[in-house]
Amino acid sequence: MNLFEIDTSTFVVTTPIYYVNDVPHIGSAYTTMAADVMARFQRLRGKSVLFITGTDEHGQKIQRTAEALGRSPQEHCDLIAAKYAALWQQLNISNTRFIRTTTPRHAAIVQEFFQRVWEKGDIYLGQQQGWYCVSCEEFKEERELLDQHRCPLHPTKETEWRDEQNYFFRLSRYQAPLEALYAEDPDFIQPDSRRNEVLSFVSQGLQDFSISRVNIDWGLPFPIDPHHTIYVWFDALLNYITGSLDLEAEPTLDNALAHWGSPTLQLIGKDILRFHAIYWPAMLLSAEMPLPSRIFGHGFLTQNGQKMSKSVGNIIDPFELVDRYGADAVRYYFLKEIEFGKDGDFNQVRFINILNADLANDLGNLLNRTVQMVHKYCNGRVPTVALEAIPADHILQSKATSLNQQVAMAYEALAFSQACEAILSLIRASNKYIDEQAPWTLYKQGQQAAVEQVLYTVLESVRLAAYLLSPIVPTISTAIYQQLGFTDNFNQTAIETLPQYEQHARWGVLPTDQPLPTPQPIFRRLELSDK
Ligand code: MSP
Repeated sequence: MNLFEIDTSTFVVTTPIYYVNDVPHIGSAYTTMAADVMARFQRLRGKSVLFITGTDEHGQKIQRTAEALGRSPQEHCDLIAAKYAALWQQLNISNTRFIRTTTPRHAAIVQEFFQRVWEKGDIYLGQQQGWYCVSCEEFKEERELLDQHRCPLHPTKETEWRDEQNYFFRLSRYQAPLEALYAEDPDFIQPDSRRNEVLSFVSQGLQDFSISRVNIDWGLPFPIDPHHTIYVWFDALLNYITGSLDLEAEPTLDNALAHWGSPTLQLIGKDILRFHAIYWPAMLLSAEMPLPSRIFGHGFLTQNGQKMSKSVGNIIDPFELVDRYGADAVRYYFLKEIEFGKDGDFNQVRFINILNADLANDLGNLLNRTVQMVHKYCNGRVPTVALEAIPADHILQSKATSLNQQVAMAYEALAFSQACEAILSLIRASNKYIDEQAPWTLYKQGQQAAVEQVLYTVLESVRLAAYLLSPIVPTISTAIYQQLGFTDNFNQTAIETLPQYEQHARWGVLPTDQPLPTPQPIFRRLELSDK
């Protein structure tokens, strides 16, 4: 990766579309925050980004929920979809599309896609027998089920026996092409643990799966048989195509491919891996459409080590977290604290400790005290230091010089936690450096040039850290930049207005003599009792 060339290619990132059976919880927010970081990072690199998210609104689960609440399904979907849109705003998510599967444009895409697969001879009528988990909206194989045919993902709910005529998709026909795909492109499914899971599942032999339902009205009509509706997952996966349409374009498959092509990166949770890594590429192969480049399955979140569930009453409400601590704090915790790809835990005490240690103390205090010293010792202007005068082995300069490459590689690999660690190590080194150099003593000794070099190198380290952290904490990074006298705003989404990676991820960007505003804390310390 050459960072010092602007890369203007396109980058298409997707999240799963969320079921509207219930209000958003932290699990759905998790995938979306990660996708947002990728979208923001790629914009800094100069890429045009399409960021698709949305809501999955059809199927039995939604129909039943709406009935139980005495609402029409559409009324219910409108209510919950609005909650998702509101959460994304509060969490500062920079999505460019919000796809709802109940819109006519999506229906047109599903219809055309269905037609292609039908003409290919990949759809036939058959008999479906099996245990159906309504919460997963999926038939389960006998061997996957717990006692009393309970679904391992929803053990408090009973699966339902079904024996009905359904239309099937000939998944079995795609076994060999899929195996060839996985072999040719080992990065197609990531991380490796998920890839292995898929390889092992496929090697047991793929069976056709049913793509129609009877006795469910809340779904798209099945084009060739009025007694059936389209299976919710067949419909839902196609949101990625609808989402690729330009807003003014006619909803056709060709138009969907015309501008953005197929997704560069699809983020999902590990529970829906099979749908995305097996069914979805097989459907695309059948319709002769290009495949996504990369599917990444992240882990599951628990609270205090316990699975979150409604019945236990330990579901984390993302609205509450954001209201209490702010979007950047929530984003930082989940991306820094949990290795992306592995399962992770939310614990409130740890949450507060990490934010206070990293953002309030290490980063915030360092900036604050350094800006104060600049006001005291340098007339409130960035000290005038010639970059060439800084020795090559200067501890901060030498650490900072390779940081951009290291951090870019971590972001590309979705190793968010590693990116944060690398950036923080520069900040910790800066704290140590300023304490050791003691510019307050140097000042008293009349060593003005030394004072200026110390303050400049520390401020420049904080600037670089803020820049590199901006995909994760855009508001804090903007506040830091403002404290350093810049007017850049990392919350902009237009590429032209963003400070580009190739310029700002370098060492030595802070202009000397730049006036600094009055010091303001950029992150308030959190207390356990914060309301
Ligand atoms: N509607 C389907 C996806 C269709 S995509 C074509 C769906 N929706 S969901 O709302 O149930 O889940 C959406 C995402 O949230 C999934 O990626 C899932 O893994 C994620 N999470 C749900 N609970 C989670 C945790 N407790 N932890 C982390 N992510 C979790 O599935």
